Amino acid sequence: MSAFHREKVLSVRHWTDTLFSFRATRDTGFRFQNGQFAMIGLEVDGRPLLRAYSMASANHEEQLEFFSIKVADGPLTSRLQKIKEGDTILVGRKATGTLITDNLLPGKRLLLLSTGTGLAPFVSLIKDPDVYDRFEQIVLVHGCRQVSELAYGEEVVRNLQSDELFGPLLAEKLTYYPTVTREPFRNRGRITDLITSKQIFNDIGQEPLNIEGDRIMMCGSPAMLEELRQMFDGRGFSEGNHSEPGHFVIEKAFVER
Ligand code: A2P
Repeated sequence: MSAFHREKVLSVRHWTDTLFSFRATRDTGFRFQNGQFAMIGLEVDGRPLLRAYSMASANHEEQLEFFSIKVADGPLTSRLQKIKEGDTILVGRKATGTLITDNLLPGKRLLLLSTGTGLAPFVSLIKDPDVYDRFEQIVLVHGCRQVSELAYGEEVVRNLQSDELFGPLLAEKLTYYPTVTREPFRNRGRITDLITSKQIFNDIGQEPLNIEGDRIMMCGSPAMLEELRQMFDGRGFSEGNHSEPGHFVIEKAFVER
């Protein structure tokens, strides 16, 4: 048995010069938990060329969705960015990853902190009804350099808001907080600074960070993750994993592509 499934590309959308998303068929045997990643890629010169990608689709969806950067000299993404409807991609049979709700202690508010394509696992998680059952409030934060890089996330949230099932859940529980660092926007600044200064909590009209109620998932640039980890460590938050749930979990957004 091969280590991966061959799937058909169903649609591709280019959001900026450096970001695109695509949908593909999903083998009925491919199981995953929302927030997890798998190895995906292309066959190049008769060999699989694979990288880790978080599923942006939820596990109840029939199709798979992925959100990717484009790296001009990236072994995979220089090719993957050219895929079209009908092309074949490879999807590893095994999904894994730490950004799953079972790795978190029970809590009241779930903070989903992302930069760049680190948004992808959270797109899956905000389509999971179980997440809305477990938490009273969910705050989705997406930090980017430019406003144009927010487009995919903005559309995902907009579509869910008008969805029959998720619309009411989002209205009651989800706060979407996009923030931009290198040009004017309604929310500005790095996620680390926004939390430290409490600006983000003022902006959304919620209480500041507190260890009793807050549970955190983070995915993004290694520098951001390291700073956040230190900040949460310093406040007594513990990191969760498969053997022991904690206050926060971390996954780096994979950038060497
Ligand atoms: P900044 O523009 O101030 O560097 P990148 O495209 O480099 O992955 O960055 C994505 C977003 O993450 C940018 O808004 C960037 O802000 C921010 N960022 C980069 N490093 C850190 C860090 N150490 N802490 C918090 N945010 C960061």
